[in-house]
Amino acid sequence: MKIMVATGNKHKLEEIQQILDDLPVKLLTINDLPQQIEVEETGLTFQENARLKADAYFQLSGLPTLADDSGLEVPALNNEPGVRSARYAGQAADYLKNNLLLLERMKELKGKDRKAYFRCVVCFKTDQGEWFFEGKTEGIILEDSRGNGGFGYDPLFYLPEMGKTYAELSPEEKNKISHRGLALEKFRDFLEKYLEKI
Ligand code: IMP
Repeated sequence: MKIMVATGNKHKLEEIQQILDDLPVKLLTINDLPQQIEVEETGLTFQENARLKADAYFQLSGLPTLADDSGLEVPALNNEPGVRSARYAGQAADYLKNNLLLLERMKELKGKDRKAYFRCVVCFKTDQGEWFFEGKTEGIILEDSRGNGGFGYDPLFYLPEMGKTYAELSPEEKNKISHRGLALEKFRDFLEKYLEKI
């Protein structure tokens, strides 16, 4: 079965590939499509944005489509950056600018106020319907970056029980506990059964 993965982000694609590795599926991405489109992420929730992306690429490709939306939520900042995680420091933001802005906003926050969650919602859309899968991981935002792996807010997101940030984990270690890994594991279980039925 071919699945269109509605992302151009190669880090995400690698994570997805690893998790679905032993299933009989071939993953295509938006780079395999002859036509490129811009999907505006206008939703107020991760679920809405995941659905917008899944809808758009399902229509364009006609293939079962997997889309995810994810981001970081800091309860002490009213769950910022949330759905604006990718563009927290503005439309032209990059990972470094976003991280610096987050540190700036959190500079007065100590102890449990530095608690944060990464959240991911995966939407799978086919001509049979649409399904959602969610993963959530709790951590702490450090005052300085640690580690060179991963992407985005990874170097700031510290997991006390592992004594490491996301950026200090190997891709395999990160997949086991990450918000996207957890959501994709739920999707994987679903897909295994779905494939038996079709
Ligand atoms: P999305 O591509 O619309 O899901 O936006 C996700 C944004 O949230 C990324 O650009 C990152 O800023 C942040 N993000 C999501 N997942 C991760 C992760 O695993 N590590 C670090 N940052 C992440």
